[in-house]
Amino acid sequence: MFLWGTALSANQSEGTLNSSKGDSVSDRLPSGKNRYQVMTCPGEKADETYEYYPTHRGIDFYSHYKEDIKKLAEMGINSLRLSISWTRIFPTGLEKEPNIEGLNFYDKVFDELSKYQIEPIVTLNHFDTPYYLAKNYGGWKSTVTKEAFVKYADIILKRYNNKVTYWIPCNEINMAAHIPFVGAGLMIDLEKQPQKAIAEAIHNLLVASAIVTKRAHELNPDNKIGCMLAAGTTYPETPDPENVLCAMEKDRENYLFTDVQLRGAYPTYYLKKLLKQKIDLAICEEEKNLLVQHTADFVAISYYNSRMASNRQKRETDVTTGNVFATLKNPYLESTEWGWQIDPIGLRITLNELCDRYQKPIMIVENGLGAKDQLIDGQINDCYRIDFLSAHISEMKKAQNDGVEIIGYLSWSGLDIISASSGEISKRYGFIYVCQDDKGNGNQKRIEKASYYWYQTFLSNEKVNLGE
Ligand code: BG6
Repeated sequence: MFLWGTALSANQSEGTLNSSKGDSVSDRLPSGKNRYQVMTCPGEKADETYEYYPTHRGIDFYSHYKEDIKKLAEMGINSLRLSISWTRIFPTGLEKEPNIEGLNFYDKVFDELSKYQIEPIVTLNHFDTPYYLAKNYGGWKSTVTKEAFVKYADIILKRYNNKVTYWIPCNEINMAAHIPFVGAGLMIDLEKQPQKAIAEAIHNLLVASAIVTKRAHELNPDNKIGCMLAAGTTYPETPDPENVLCAMEKDRENYLFTDVQLRGAYPTYYLKKLLKQKIDLAICEEEKNLLVQHTADFVAISYYNSRMASNRQKRETDVTTGNVFATLKNPYLESTEWGWQIDPIGLRITLNELCDRYQKPIMIVENGLGAKDQLIDGQINDCYRIDFLSAHISEMKKAQNDGVEIIGYLSWSGLDIISASSGEISKRYGFIYVCQDDKGNGNQKRIEKASYYWYQTFLSNEKVNLGE
């Protein structure tokens, strides 16, 4: 069965108030102008007190989960990607026993999903490293964090063994290199050798993912484990070979992760880079064996945009961002209000590239449009989102026709939630509008958008086409 669904993450939706949850790195990210600085180079910065932390309120999925799952079920999804909040289970990461209140919450969420026959796709760490481990151990640089994660993952894998088949140990693992605090709990400005700390954190994340893959397969051979990449191919600005080389190198910064997780060993281009930087990871035989013997079953990707690279000097106006990656503006593409370039054909290219590189099934676990929706007379006519999603689904289907094995399409996001990069809820992605503003004001009423009814019709036609 093809997985048609949508996605959410714990830190952006659940909220932390009125619960025994500990702070994760995402819970230390303020709204407003300081946010990006805290995301990229915290230390002192993450410890300061800010006016408003958007994840603390989230959209209170913690209290609304029944209503929200019901609405999503009525839209016709057969799958939902969500994440478990690590610090709801282990508030600091180091408690001896898991927090029963946290487990009880997810018990109820999975029961609710099963009531509607919705297949859960579960991320174990979606930008959710415990802040305690970041502050006291340097996050994923330390094997303490790796061991704490494996312990937490073990508990979750066992508890939900019969309820969950698809697991993603780490959301967008390549973000560890781009936003080290959010992706890997690294206090980068306190590091004497930041590049070394990043390489160590990446290594621990990769080894931990291999251990989780091993345990999940031992527990239940039917378990399917995905490695996840914030994907999007890089185009060269021109056919100048220097630019082509530059684009290849940019892509390798990200493919490094999936190269390890799907091929089972560090690629030579990365080992050479470490050598040049005089970084010795001292990888032992046991770790090498883990990486080679416990590769992922499928490639999970988020796709929002393609990227472009060049070796020339760039002016500030030439550059834009897309999913936190700084990239050159591509003159052939339109952009969202946040400058993310819209490229449905780029999705087809990315899928084909990943298929050529790994020959593994691919699941699209995030794809969507952040926009400032307007609530007018109780309705939201988000026709631009319908255009965005239809164009991307159409290119995905062309990729299937090219021969790429795709096992699911989960749009981002089911409901409006807090934006990871901007901290705003006004950067809305959902099929369901949430009445709340960027300061957390509002009654959190849920209202179906035009895109909700469009996806509902689309999914019902797909079922008829598939004879389900
Ligand atoms: C991905 C993340 O990077 O992109 C999500 O996994 C995030 O958590 C999504 O929300 C969209 O990005 P943003 O910054 O617009 O919320």
